[in-house]
Amino acid sequence: MKISTAISNDFCPQTLFLFGTYKEDNTPNFGLFCWFSYYWDGDGLGIMACIGENKLTKDRIRENKVFSANLVTEEILPIADYFGIKKGYSNEKMNIEFETEKGHVLDVPVFSKSPIVYELEVSQSIIFGDSEVFLCKIRNVLADDFLCDKTISKEKRIKTIRPVHTTCQTYFSWDGNEICGWGKAGNK
Ligand SMILES: Cc1cc2nc3c(=O)[nH]c(=O)nc-3n(C[C@H](O)[C@H](O)[C@H](O)COP(=O)(O)O)c2cc1C
Repeated sequence: MKISTAISNDFCPQTLFLFGTYKEDNTPNFGLFCWFSYYWDGDGLGIMACIGENKLTKDRIRENKVFSANLVTEEILPIADYFGIKKGYSNEKMNIEFETEKGHVLDVPVFSKSPIVYELEVSQSIIFGDSEVFLCKIRNVLADDFLCDKTISKEKRIKTIRPVHTTCQTYFSWDGNEICGWGKAGNK
């Protein structure tokens, strides 16, 4: 039996990405995002990403028209959660230790510990209210080499990287166990 319930995306899991941009001083900034999916426009695979309200990541994407999207895994969840809670407008956000490298095709920062990274260039954007949807061309995909090893099963490869799922404002492990609520992973 089904019942009508409150409008929300509870029980509709999403994956998480760190969006990487360069600030005006050319140092990297990362924010955490889940309004993210794919489209096909005949020209190839594209990515749509939505950013609400004012935030540094949105300012930098508007300015440079490029960013990286770095898949969040269980290993990097504590720092990813921090990047989702702490505002880039606060100067000390990036005063923590993490490894980055440069994109191979675009001038974007890459979060080294993420196993799959998109280098994205905005082709169109749609503004409505406080939000903006960015439609992006994938200019490059960076993958950890073992993900490209077809002698290893797909199941083993994805179980090795363990992407995080989120729904109900809670993080879940790849095998479906509750990890913790948003804002709590940095403490673990
Ligand atoms: C789990 C999680 C998912 C998030 N997803 C989004 C999103 O899809 N869109 C958005 O605008 N903000 C999202 N946020 C909020 C941003 O991560 C937050 O505003 C952060 O400060 C952005 O980084 P910045 O301030 O350095 O730009 C999310 C936060 C969390 C904790």
